[in-house]
Amino acid sequence: MDLFEYQAKHLFREHGVPVVPGDVCSTPELAREAARKIGTTVVVKAQVKTGGRGKAGGVKLAESPDEAFARAQDILGMDIKGHTVRKVLVTEAADIAEEYYVSFLLDRADRAFLAMASVAGGIDIEEVAATNPEALAKIRVDALAGVDDAKAAEIVAAAGFPAEVADEIAGVLTSLWDVLVNEDATLVEVNPLVRTPDGRILALDGKVTLDENADYRHASHADMVDTADTDPLELRAKELDLNYVKLTGEVGIIGNGAGLVMSTLDVVAYAGEEFGGVKPANFLDIGGGASAQVMANGLDIVLNDPEVKAVFVNVFGGITACDAVANGIVGALDLLAAKGETVTKPIVCRIDGNNAAEGRRILNEAEHEVIELVETMDDAARRVAQLAAQA
Ligand SMILES: Nc1ncnc2c1ncn2[C@@H]1O[C@H](COP(=O)(O)OP(=O)(O)O)[C@@H](O)[C@H]1O
Ligand SMILES: [Mg+2]
Repeated sequence: MDLFEYQAKHLFREHGVPVVPGDVCSTPELAREAARKIGTTVVVKAQVKTGGRGKAGGVKLAESPDEAFARAQDILGMDIKGHTVRKVLVTEAADIAEEYYVSFLLDRADRAFLAMASVAGGIDIEEVAATNPEALAKIRVDALAGVDDAKAAEIVAAAGFPAEVADEIAGVLTSLWDVLVNEDATLVEVNPLVRTPDGRILALDGKVTLDENADYRHASHADMVDTADTDPLELRAKELDLNYVKLTGEVGIIGNGAGLVMSTLDVVAYAGEEFGGVKPANFLDIGGGASAQVMANGLDIVLNDPEVKAVFVNVFGGITACDAVANGIVGALDLLAAKGETVTKPIVCRIDGNNAAEGRRILNEAEHEVIELVETMDDAARRVAQLAAQA
């Protein structure tokens, strides 16, 4: 999970990386209040999970609280590389003598971490890295040894930081390493890390990517999840513990096993070409032991997508035999009917594998008017694409 700058800086502060005070605000009024509280010139900064905010006009100075109000008004609602700005960080403006770059990231190929540092930081660091790679020092960091004072000094020397800031930057590096280790991050980046004219070192920007596999060790990380840009059906699916990804087509897909669902997406997209470009509306893997309840949850999500015109349930019975899955489908429709959500969209079922004959018998006997059984995966894909196109 990528964090917003204000969240990254919160972690920086907790682990001793020096940052300037600031408040995150969702309205111009709050931005004015925050600027008044800070009491100096402030910077109003778009909070979006993408870089290049400065170049996009999402970082602006404000000399007074009223100016902070105006700049927040300009920036809130802006679109930066497809991200809508919903919050701004109002933070103390720092005097900048020099801008540096420092980061640690997981280098999977090397089975280690990588430290990068440069005295040529700031908004053009990508260009520096591309045109003048020697200006960006890269030092391998062993995961077990980590970054102690000696390692930090090695990074400082490799990047050629001026002697008068060397010790302080080494200190920032060990603190930044603490952020990475203690928060289970795969990336921590500061660009720019600045030197002020009076010799202080400050992190003016922050980027942190947390390793979601370690979420269970960090109860507090759940508070940093931002769902404003998440599809509402995906949110609901997540609450129901379903593996669901919203796509943009008309055919709802439910299958058991990620590989089967992936190939179902392919055959539906292929068959759909014959019917004016009908496409799959989602990925949904209900997993191995698909009970009636799980099937009902899955159907509920897929049928609630207004784009969906027809549904394809593609099941290959394995450990969970086809008769259990068929009972699940019938039970799911009963459960939905009991909730007052009587299903009217056609559901094409292809059931194969362990105990397929019994599964088909159950579906046939249920004589449910929305259910249509089709023998093969290709024929089922064709049929569901046709039904979706007709709807
Ligand atoms: N608190 C601040 N005080 C002074 N200048 C700032 C401050 N925050 C950012 N800046 C300036 O704006 C530039 C861009 O801001 P930054 O936070 O790095 O956003 P981005 O990397 O998305 O462009 C920085 O390189 C720095 O020059
Ligand atoms: Mg930056």
